[in-house]
Amino acid sequence: MVTVEFMPQESMSKPFCLIVDDEPRLRQVLVHLMRNDGFSCLEAGNGEEALAQLEKQTVMLVMSDLRMPKMDGLELLRRIRAQWPDTAVVMITAVADVEVAVSCLAIGAMDYLTKPFHLEEVRARVAQALEKRRLVVENRGYQESLQEKVAVQARRLEELFLASVQSLAEALEVKDPYTRGHSIRVSHYSVAIAKEVGLDGEDLRQIELGGHVHDIGKIGVREDVLNKPGKLTDAEYEHIMTHPVVGWRILAPLLGETPLALNIVRSHHERYDGRGVPDRLVGENIPFEARIAAVADSFDAMTSDRPYRPDGMSLDAALAELVRCSGAQFDPKIVTAMVNAVESSRIVLVPRVPSYFGAAVH
Ligand SMILES: [Fe+2]
Repeated sequence: MVTVEFMPQESMSKPFCLIVDDEPRLRQVLVHLMRNDGFSCLEAGNGEEALAQLEKQTVMLVMSDLRMPKMDGLELLRRIRAQWPDTAVVMITAVADVEVAVSCLAIGAMDYLTKPFHLEEVRARVAQALEKRRLVVENRGYQESLQEKVAVQARRLEELFLASVQSLAEALEVKDPYTRGHSIRVSHYSVAIAKEVGLDGEDLRQIELGGHVHDIGKIGVREDVLNKPGKLTDAEYEHIMTHPVVGWRILAPLLGETPLALNIVRSHHERYDGRGVPDRLVGENIPFEARIAAVADSFDAMTSDRPYRPDGMSLDAALAELVRCSGAQFDPKIVTAMVNAVESSRIVLVPRVPSYFGAAVH
């Protein structure tokens, strides 16, 4: 008798066993045996008939002859492995085919029986095959739940990471109310430009994040300098322009996994002609995403009200200024993309109201 521990846990009803052999008499013997051992039995005279049965019914165990008309046991085994990997297959073979039977193990048969066989031997092999199947299914279950746990933890880590970034951004907003709307607009513009130049997926996500936090280093800038209404002295300007490196230092441990966002923080004040800060990078040496953010940043700075300039420029005037500085301050490719995005209404400047984000990107 096949003992209960080999019976499936997944179903309270009788498990199905499919007997595949072109000799009806041999099928009858096995059907009788398996029924006595608690299985519901299905029969098939060849591989094709067996596949038809498997399409209709979930089967725990297939016992299949090797040599059959239409589709032989080997082909049937391959098809079962590909389509029903949880179904255990035991091959039945004549003594002459033992070598082939052994090779069946290599492609996923759980075991094989050699004709003529004793009923006790069948029982022992079936029990063994089902035990192997149970272990395989269980192992896969463990693996899947482990992967699920890892994915849940990764999501949690990302949430915690974003919460840290968010609390920094909030601290800066208190210090510099202008920053909030600005960062969100720079993020929107940057993503729109990035799409215009063909970036997508994770790159866009990182560029969006980089835009949000690009000025986070201003947390290290004195408030009286940050909100000064008049013109800045050289020393004050230099002090403000430490913010890319300060931001980079703060965020490097957090944004290490998102290098594009980190590049934006550090390099959004680099200039295409190499006269920017902090690294005086030239042209294509400036990370592409930082060149994008530089254009978005300046565009928003020009079109927004600032402490020292209550009336922002018109959209046309700001675009003209970007074009004028193309090749000197800005990468010409990015300026062209920005102009195209505006001309095709993928970037629209909307009226500025307090606390309103100021721009819409389509
Ligand atoms: Fe900045």
